Amino acid sequence: MRLDKFLAQSSLGRRKNVRTYIKEGRVKVNKEVITKPAMEIKESSDVIEYLDKVVRYTGKVYYMFNKPAGYITARKDTVNKTVFDFFHDVNMEGVFHVGRLDKDTEGLLLMTNDGEFEHQLMYPEKHIEKTYFFWALGFLDEEDMKQLEQGIYIGKGEILTKPAKIEVQKSGMYKEFKHEMPNKDLQNIDSDHYNQPVVSGYLTIKEGRKHQVKRMLKSVGCYVVYLKRVSIGGLMLHESLGKGQYRSLTDVEIQSLFGELR
Ligand code: URA
Repeated sequence: MRLDKFLAQSSLGRRKNVRTYIKEGRVKVNKEVITKPAMEIKESSDVIEYLDKVVRYTGKVYYMFNKPAGYITARKDTVNKTVFDFFHDVNMEGVFHVGRLDKDTEGLLLMTNDGEFEHQLMYPEKHIEKTYFFWALGFLDEEDMKQLEQGIYIGKGEILTKPAKIEVQKSGMYKEFKHEMPNKDLQNIDSDHYNQPVVSGYLTIKEGRKHQVKRMLKSVGCYVVYLKRVSIGGLMLHESLGKGQYRSLTDVEIQSLFGELR
């Protein structure tokens, strides 16, 4: 592995900063100052030091992040803040988001520098379930639920959605439930909503088409006003993780996700 890559994947900083450190002579390989960022090292046996302190290889990183609404799932955006704005304390060189959540969607987003892991998790043939909690204007009868579960057309020229699971949690009038709904500014949308039916529940899908949950619910006459991803495969978003907070996945969580990918 290249020396600069090794250091960048060892929480020392971004690749470009690391190169500067090397050129400035701050890095030693087996006690010898090395100034070539491209030097090949053996990460298992060579001893790498930065300012005379041994550097441990971090390797692959996996984070569970609780995305708040209002942030774009992208590395950079000219107008909006992005999910990367929350990761101040860790080296995000080479780290990317696994899939995407809409700007107004909250909840579980995985971040990693492991391209293979991301590819597999997003690969529709792997049938990894993603569960979303929603509040929507409208109601769901048995026929709607059957359609959502069996497959539904959500856009021109698109094939039927794959089998999904729907679980209705609450159903009634908006005026009954408005205090339970997380986004209380809904009142500003239209005062007519006051006497409208609303429904909350969980929709579990195995695909990741653009705005899929919103479009599936729209196809049965429900307008999503709140959406939160609560799980990916067997991995649940930890409620202890506040909005905008993240933590590394534990080894057990990583192994169990990899297990589902086999
Ligand atoms: N489905 C949506 O409609 N939006 C998301 O952010 C994720 C899934």
